[in-house]
Amino acid sequence: EGIALWGGRFASGPSDTLAKLSKSTQFDWRLADDDIAGSRAHARALNRAGHLTLDELNSMELALDELQRRVDSGDFTPIESDEDEATALERGLLAIAGDELGGKLRAGRSRNDQIATLIRMWLRRQARFISREVLALAQALIKKSKSAGYAVMPGRTHMQHAQPVLVSHQLMAHVWPLLRDVERLIDWDNRCNASPYGSGALAGNTLGLDPEAVAHELGFSTVTENSIDGTASRDLVAEFSFIAAMLGVDISRLSEEIIIWNTQEFAFVRLDDAYSTGSSIMPQKKNPDIAELARGKAGRLIGDMTGLMVTLKGLPTAYARDLQEDKEAVFDQVDTLCVVLPAFTGMIETMEFDFNRMESQAPTGFALATDIAEWLVKQKVPFRYAHELSGECVRLAEERGIELWDLSDSDFKSVFSNFLSADVAPEVRTVLSTLGSVNSRLGKGGTAYERVKEQIAFAEKTVNSL
Ligand code: ARG
Repeated sequence: EGIALWGGRFASGPSDTLAKLSKSTQFDWRLADDDIAGSRAHARALNRAGHLTLDELNSMELALDELQRRVDSGDFTPIESDEDEATALERGLLAIAGDELGGKLRAGRSRNDQIATLIRMWLRRQARFISREVLALAQALIKKSKSAGYAVMPGRTHMQHAQPVLVSHQLMAHVWPLLRDVERLIDWDNRCNASPYGSGALAGNTLGLDPEAVAHELGFSTVTENSIDGTASRDLVAEFSFIAAMLGVDISRLSEEIIIWNTQEFAFVRLDDAYSTGSSIMPQKKNPDIAELARGKAGRLIGDMTGLMVTLKGLPTAYARDLQEDKEAVFDQVDTLCVVLPAFTGMIETMEFDFNRMESQAPTGFALATDIAEWLVKQKVPFRYAHELSGECVRLAEERGIELWDLSDSDFKSVFSNFLSADVAPEVRTVLSTLGSVNSRLGKGGTAYERVKEQIAFAEKTVNSL
């Protein structure tokens, strides 16, 4: 039979319609373990403040052990009339410890400080798990980068051939945002390191409880400075939610590239059978569903964050029941990332590149035009003219349907004639090779093989430090 945590001042129980609207056990039951941990710490605080004798504390701890066992085994679960996880656990505790002893545990705490603490505990644990999954993905990308060696591919801006880059450089460009997301989770965790327990409903408690001790038992290094802030703010939940959405976006952008690389026209990558799907009607089909689902679920992750932000906007600053809506948003994000990340990492680990095809495409589309211009700059031609001259080479080649390196010596001599002597002009050919172009981009962060090697080494060091 159900219990209510309130009722004294009410002549009747809640209407069925209210009970249905109010109920949250269908999603907040996953906080039960953290709530029991909070109850243990709270019981000890009550004892130290003289509100539970040592005998009572011992019996309470045994009762909480038993409650945890029943929750673990599934013998105890919420029933229809339990309003939330806290109500259900109170019912479970009373059934084990009796009304006399069990009824003492709620003193000095409110579901408002409880729930604000529990969501932090739960999210901090998830943040660590998600970080490990993201680092596994980063490592898979780093491994692929290393195995790509000197392989080159077309680097694109506006999706148009721009300048050739190392395949490893392009892959590593996806590693850094992921590592920053992990760093964001770590920063967030440090900010989340204060416990609201002891804040009560909003104003603190009168019972001489020691919130510091409770905080330490629950893995927090300190207590929130303001009991209203502790119970009412959800910026930390929203910040977690942003990081989850950002992860979704970062993975989605990589997904989009893989989907394009996997098309017949590009044919840069081949996905492993175990990480591809077929069509129910077209027997030949092999689809990149993992990348598509990851891209699609980014929308869902952003939606969760947006919903939460809109819920928070305009709330007065102390607890309001709207705050119950914070949980499903982040629960859904965590569930989503927990299915996306392992599948995505598996897809990356097993993906194969067609390096020959990538290399053959790399210099096409006049992708070496910048190299001509920069070579002219090294011959002391002002860049403004160098850009024009290289553009003329492109126009000539385009007119004849050939590539830049197919232009003849006399073509170069005549295009450059106002600036360079005829014997120097044909030397421009020295930069008209893809690897020559790539390896001349030697500035820090550039795509030269040496720089990318350093980049990879630093990324590995970063991964190991996180
Ligand atoms: N279930 C609520 C939540 O998740 C906590 C209960 C607060 N209820 C209240 N009447 N103050 O936010």
